[in-house]
Amino acid sequence: MKTLLEVKNVSKQYGTDTVALSDVNFSVKEGEFVSVIGPSGAGKSTLLRCINRMIEASNGEIIFDNVNVQGLRKKELRRLRTKIGMIFQHYNLVMRMSVIENVLHGLLGYKSTFSGVLGLYSEEEKKKALQVLTILGLQEQVYKRCDQLSGGQKQRVGIARALIQNPKMLLCDEPIASLDPNASKIIMDYLKKISSSMGITVLVNLHQVDVALKYSDRIIGVSKGKIVYDGSPKKISEEEINTIYGSEAGELMIEVGGK
Ligand SMILES: Nc1ncnc2c1ncn2[C@@H]1O[C@H](COP(=O)(O)OP(=O)(O)OP(=O)(O)O)[C@@H](O)[C@H]1O
Ligand SMILES: [Mg+2]
Repeated sequence: MKTLLEVKNVSKQYGTDTVALSDVNFSVKEGEFVSVIGPSGAGKSTLLRCINRMIEASNGEIIFDNVNVQGLRKKELRRLRTKIGMIFQHYNLVMRMSVIENVLHGLLGYKSTFSGVLGLYSEEEKKKALQVLTILGLQEQVYKRCDQLSGGQKQRVGIARALIQNPKMLLCDEPIASLDPNASKIIMDYLKKISSSMGITVLVNLHQVDVALKYSDRIIGVSKGKIVYDGSPKKISEEEINTIYGSEAGELMIEVGGK
């Protein structure tokens, strides 16, 4: 399979003394489902945000779909972002607007500011919005206001908004951190289905190790801004999980797991 994303020697420093990422190297193949795990403050969100340039890396190179992301100017950057859908913990929807309006917002990167601001969408675009909403099981909620939805439904709207752009990759930053186990499973199942049936690459930050192990082709473990594990979820040992989370957290997990 072709390499879609390459992260080379990437570092990120905030201010003068916070090193959030330190010489991070990895690549992701087309269609891969990769989870990034690690304790709070490890640098997971920073890493995802550097990839679509929501924040600027301090050093290193990021190549996405054969394009050096750092060199891109406004228009090219907008084009890059149409290829990379972003999913957030708190959904980032416009809550007073309807489900379909939020999904159509996903097309903004393709539009002139003029028709974007006026909310002008073609019949074809509306049809496409209905299509992605149906894929995500939201055909009954199309005209509801987003503030009337459950958390799991809101997140599915977030995924639909990303999908309407025809992305090559989804970056998901803690997509299930605000959801109960049942809704979490539904969201993870949809992400997996999107990845395997549509060939879309998924890079997801997760707090739940068990979920990461269950769904991923590959696990990247981050600790204090460095990659400390990169490999199959099948081969990862308890000791390696302890290294990712630090020995104290590891002992806690073993205790809980052992009961
Ligand atoms: N905008 C910012 N300005 C300054 N420091 C920041 C900023 N964003 C993050 N940091 C710091 O960078 C480090 C990595 O943060 P980041 O949010 O990437 O971690 P994370 O792994 O996503 O954590 P969490 O699991 O809690 O979401 C932390 O020390 C954090 O305090
Ligand atoms: Mg984070």
